[in-house]
Amino acid sequence: MKAAVIKKFGLPSVFEITDLFIPKPKANQLLVRVYATSINPIDWKQRKGNHRFILGAPFPITLGYDVCAEVVEVGSQIKMFKPGDVVFGVLDNKYGGALAEYALGTESCFALAPRNIRFEHAAAFPMVSLTALQALRDKAKLKHGMRVLINGASGGVGHIAVQMARLMNAKVIAVSSSRNQTFVESLQPDQFIDYNKQDILKTTDKIDVFFDVSGIYSFVKCKHMLNPGGIYINTLPRPKILFHKILQLFTKGKKVKTLLMKHSSDDLRIIGQWITEGKLKVELDEIFNLNNISAAHHYAEGGHSKGKNVVIIN
Ligand SMILES: NC(=O)c1ccc[n+]([C@@H]2O[C@H](COP(=O)([O-])OP(=O)(O)OC[C@H]3O[C@@H](n4cnc5c(N)ncnc54)[C@H](OP(=O)(O)O)[C@@H]3O)[C@@H](O)[C@H]2O)c1
Repeated sequence: MKAAVIKKFGLPSVFEITDLFIPKPKANQLLVRVYATSINPIDWKQRKGNHRFILGAPFPITLGYDVCAEVVEVGSQIKMFKPGDVVFGVLDNKYGGALAEYALGTESCFALAPRNIRFEHAAAFPMVSLTALQALRDKAKLKHGMRVLINGASGGVGHIAVQMARLMNAKVIAVSSSRNQTFVESLQPDQFIDYNKQDILKTTDKIDVFFDVSGIYSFVKCKHMLNPGGIYINTLPRPKILFHKILQLFTKGKKVKTLLMKHSSDDLRIIGQWITEGKLKVELDEIFNLNNISAAHHYAEGGHSKGKNVVIIN
């Protein structure tokens, strides 16, 4: 099968297109034929070797987690899927493996893909949608009328989080650059802030949740903006987490939480339902194919995407 692999960590130019054997699924795995994947920041961080001390360097490495794919073969323990099903989800192998014509994943990675959208859209949803849902529902416990600020509202996680927060009937303040203002306003937040024109830390109206998708602030900098019991959530574990935990003892119940996305078929089904009902949409910025994967990584790594960047595989 055709795959884009890296044989060393480095710049986007390290990718090589090569032929690999089609992998065999274990009893608890599905083999899928990948239609498309999308790029998440974890992909280019792993390409650079940021996670090498945790995940090792088992070259050649096939990166990529998001997929929309067709089930080709199922292991003996698989109950929920059969060959021919079209699924979407996030692969659970060490480095993913979606930048290849075939990939493996366990049952909890997938749900049936919504039928009302194209496969490149289905491939763009999984990781950012699981992240936004688990942050807002599980960490923030977002409810009707709560005020949530989403910093990084134009990116992959952010633009989905704005829509989900509205579905949860929260009051949404969306923050991005003016470049993406029209796009973010089309998601209908209650308020838009251009971070180049306004220092959001000087916002006077208090909020219940600060979802720092861009990860450029910290609990220390934002805690004055939170109502008592308010929550600051980021997606990048900080070395200072213990310091923050101690600090929150003295901040009127204000809390700092870190979200690490969990694989969940159930959550993918909730996301799929919203998509089917037309309540959740994904914005595609650029569409690439496997042969220009280096350009795709270069573009995504710029950090100013409008929504998601997709790579068509099959
Ligand atoms: N822990 C987890 O499980 C998990 C899961 C998914 C993602 N993440 C992390 O979440 C982060 C965001 O992911 P993503 O997919 O949304 O990335 P992305 O698509 O690259 O979006 C990043 C967004 O950040 C915005 N931004 C850049 N500088 C900013 C600033 N100074 N102030 C406010 N916003 C700024 C950009 O908007 P403008 O162009 O408008 O500036 C851009 O749209 C990444 O660090 C990723 O690794 C973690």
